Formats: sequence, structure tokens, C-alpha cells
Amino acid sequence: MSEPLLKLDGINSFYGPVQVHFDLTLSVERGQIVCLLGGNASGKSTTMKTILGLQRPRSGKVWFDGADITGLSTPQIIRRGIGSVPEARRLFGAMTVRENLLMGAYVRSDKTAIAEDEERVLTLFPRLRERLKQRAGTMSGGEQQMLAMARAMMGRPKLIVMDEPTMGLSPLFVDRVLDLIQTINREGVTIFMVEQNASLALGIAHYGYVLQTGQIALEGPAGDLLSDPRIRDAYLGGATTA
Ligand SMILES: Nc1ncnc2c1ncn2[C@@H]1O[C@H](COP(=O)(O)OP(=O)(O)O)[C@@H](O)[C@H]1O
Ligand SMILES: [Mg+2]
Repeated sequence: MSEPLLKLDGINSFYGPVQVHFDLTLSVERGQIVCLLGGNASGKSTTMKTILGLQRPRSGKVWFDGADITGLSTPQIIRRGIGSVPEARRLFGAMTVRENLLMGAYVRSDKTAIAEDEERVLTLFPRLRERLKQRAGTMSGGEQQMLAMARAMMGRPKLIVMDEPTMGLSPLFVDRVLDLIQTINREGVTIFMVEQNASLALGIAHYGYVLQTGQIALEGPAGDLLSDPRIRDAYLGGATTA
């Protein structure tokens, strides 16, 4: 297989004296949707923060697109092609949809290309086009999640990392968001997503990892994980879950 787009290699992370990651190693292959599953407090969000340079590992390396990005600042990392859809979306609620979208391009200066990308993103997310002047904070949770994804696309990322993109959404919007993740992926963007809902995430992913107290307990192609009794028991509510 070719070199992965993203690789975490032997990451040890701490919050003060408390260790969160224990020699965490994982890879995200180019072009794939990869999900990171795991229970509460297993270290999923810290993994995302580590990739984005928001949390420095005490040891270990983060490799992206062939380069060591460990220790780079978050803007430097974003400029190299990593977009983020953070936990709880983190939009600017008082700003309009359009202003939020353009924030996603703040590391860029190529005005013509930004305008082209805005058009491309609004074609993918037609619902946002109707609401360009609406304040982001007045939209529904599902619409805000779409805006967060569209904003991430505006940075022309090679990889988008997402922390629990379906959290708190109504079932209808959960499906819509999962569809859009696949659409974005088909546009050529690699996706690394954290999800609580294992069956939904594995339903769209190519590959999955299960994090348990800061270590990978299980990994494999999504289809294999879906039928793995260990996953079914731990995350899919046992054999009764289809
Ligand atoms: N800023 C922080 N300071 C101290 N401890 C933290 C901080 N953020 C997270 N933790 C702790 O680190 C562990 C892993 O957290 P997190 O990565 O958010 O897990 P998850 O996303 O899997 O629920 C938890 O025990 C959490 O309480
Ligand atoms: Mg979390």
C-alpha cells in the first residue's frame, strides 16, 4: 500500500500527570473514510487535538502527507491541508453563514480560487446557499453541522478530521450528514472521524479503529468490524443490533 496520508506513531499524551494516550499508533490511508470509535474518555477528542496541534504529545510523531508535523502550530498544520470539524461545531453564531464559510479560507489569499471554491461548496450544500445571510447561530443543529463541514472544505483540505459530527442531531440530519461525509470523500477528501455511534460510522467508513483507554484495542476494515462480536457486544448493543 502507498504511504498513508496521516500517521500517528507511538503517541504518548498527558494532561498534567494523567496519561491519556499510551503508545497510540494508527494510519489513515489516502482517499478513505476512517473512523475512530471508543467509549467516553477513551481519548478520541485528544487524538483529534493532537493531529491539529492543539495538544502536544509528550512523545511520538504525527506524520501528514510525508512530513513530520509534530510540534507545528495549528495554522501551519491547516495550511498543509488538514481541515477540521470540531466537536460541537464551533461556529461563529453571530456571524452570517457566508462569513463563517469564508473563515474556512482564512489561511488562503488566492481570491479567485476562494470564490470558485465557495461556488463548489455551495453546490454541494445547496441548503446553505439559501441561507447565506442568516446568522449561523439561528440555524438548526443539522444545518450548523453542514456549515461546519462546508467551512472545512473552504480550506481545500486533503484531510478533514471530524469530532462526533452526528452528535445531538435528529435522525433525519444524521443521515444527511453521513451522506455529505461520503460526498466530500468522493470529491477526493480523506476523512478521519470520531464517532460514538459505531454502527453508523462503520456503515460509511472503509476502515475503523477502536480506542480503549488511549490504546488501539481493535482495528480492521469497517465491514469486518461491523460483524466482529467484540464490537457488537461493546458498541452495538450486542447481537440484537442489526
Ligand atoms: N483539557 C483537559 N485537561 C485535563 N484532562 C482532560 C482535558 N481534556 C480531556 N481530559 C481528560 O482526558 C481523557 C480523554 O478525554 P477525551 O480525549 O476528550 O476523550 P473522548 O473524546 O474519547 O471522550 C478524559 O479522562 C478527560 O477527562
Ligand atoms: Mg470527545
